[in-house]
Amino acid sequence: MKSWPRTCRDYGCQRWGGKVQLRETDLLITNIGVLATPEGNEARGGSRQGQIRILKDAYIKVKAGLIDQIGTRDQLRAQQITSEKVIDAEGSLVTPGLVDPHTHLIFAGWRQKELALKLKGVGYLEILEQGGGILNTVKNTRAASLQQLQDLAAQILDRMLAHGVTTCEAKSGYGLDLNNELKSLQAIKKLNEHHLVELVPTFMGAHAVPPEYKGKTADYIQLIKEEMIPEVARQGLAEFNDVFCEQGVFSVDESKEILEHGLKHGLSPKAHAEEITALGGASMAAKVGAISADHLIYATDEGINDMSRSGTIAVLLPATSLNLGADFARAGDMIAAGVPVALATDFNPGSCPTDSLQLVMNLAGMKYKMTPEEVLTAVTINAAAAIGRAEKVGSIEPGKQADLVVWDAPDLDFIMYRFGTNLVKMVVKKGQAFAIPKKLKSIFS
Ligand code: NIG
Ligand code: FE
Repeated sequence: MKSWPRTCRDYGCQRWGGKVQLRETDLLITNIGVLATPEGNEARGGSRQGQIRILKDAYIKVKAGLIDQIGTRDQLRAQQITSEKVIDAEGSLVTPGLVDPHTHLIFAGWRQKELALKLKGVGYLEILEQGGGILNTVKNTRAASLQQLQDLAAQILDRMLAHGVTTCEAKSGYGLDLNNELKSLQAIKKLNEHHLVELVPTFMGAHAVPPEYKGKTADYIQLIKEEMIPEVARQGLAEFNDVFCEQGVFSVDESKEILEHGLKHGLSPKAHAEEITALGGASMAAKVGAISADHLIYATDEGINDMSRSGTIAVLLPATSLNLGADFARAGDMIAAGVPVALATDFNPGSCPTDSLQLVMNLAGMKYKMTPEEVLTAVTINAAAAIGRAEKVGSIEPGKQADLVVWDAPDLDFIMYRFGTNLVKMVVKKGQAFAIPKKLKSIFS
């Protein structure tokens, strides 16, 4: 088994080595104290959100990067199953690899200077209005090379993998002109080929109106529709099309126009909705058949009911609420209304600079009052469904990819309770296992 620090070199994060491939490795994980997983290939809302499979004293057999069998210790013995490579889970909890379905992974430059403004009470939209916020990152991202964007994101992906994330959505949206949006999406494509974390690309040209179009939103929308969307689709660089439906950014009608146009080019709609104001983005997302509506801090009953009817998944981002000092979304009402809830980091340099999905899981327990079982579903099968990957990942079942987390924890309750620290002991991606070192290694000895 490889030790953790070799990951970067093995997968070319620094030197852009060979492409990641499914190795024909077989693997047997024995002595699993608790195997916890949702089941099926679809998002789960209502009471199904909290219904998961728990198998005690379990084993998992992996063949060619896919899950081949799962069962109990007694079945393992009876069938005399063996493998060249065996991992003893030492009685730990094992779950599916975590899926982060909403990140703004591609950008250059952090924005720690905004912290002082925020502490003085200057609002998020106010900072954006003054040319800061997202637009500050746009300036830095435009100035960065493709290689620089890849290198910055690869470091984040290393951390995410070490924290249990094996699949992740990644948005463009800090380029805001044709070439820089294409550059951002090309970075995602390259990372997907070379890094072990699998990426799902989203085009987000409608993240903000760039400075050169200030006061000319309609013209910028034309650029998105006539140049960006067709070229992104032609090059096959994105699966989803996301828009920031927000007061002073893109209105409900403008958002609808952009998303419907994307649909014509084969891009599936998503929306940042009701993040700062209750504008009606949730209902709009439901109307255009969006796979997910995200944020939803100020979603109304009407918006929730519309999403429930259309089967739109709610991707909730509690670390953003925490960081913005905002309210927390009504997760319980959404689940009760039958809307499947997924959880994501929203990782970005402004509203949410954390890449820890574990922190997000903890916040969902504390602030949304979601149960550990509901949270697990939210960061596995529901998250996978929110980015169109539920048939491949998101549960531990024969035929799915062997993406797993072995936790330094005996059960699910433990990971919801021991917050603020990385509890991943081992992460397995497509059957390849990596241990997270427990002991510090002295630099000079
Ligand atoms: O999801 N709201 C829009 N986009 C991001 C924030 C981006 C930024 O602040 O740079 C979000 O919160
Ligand atoms: Fe976001």
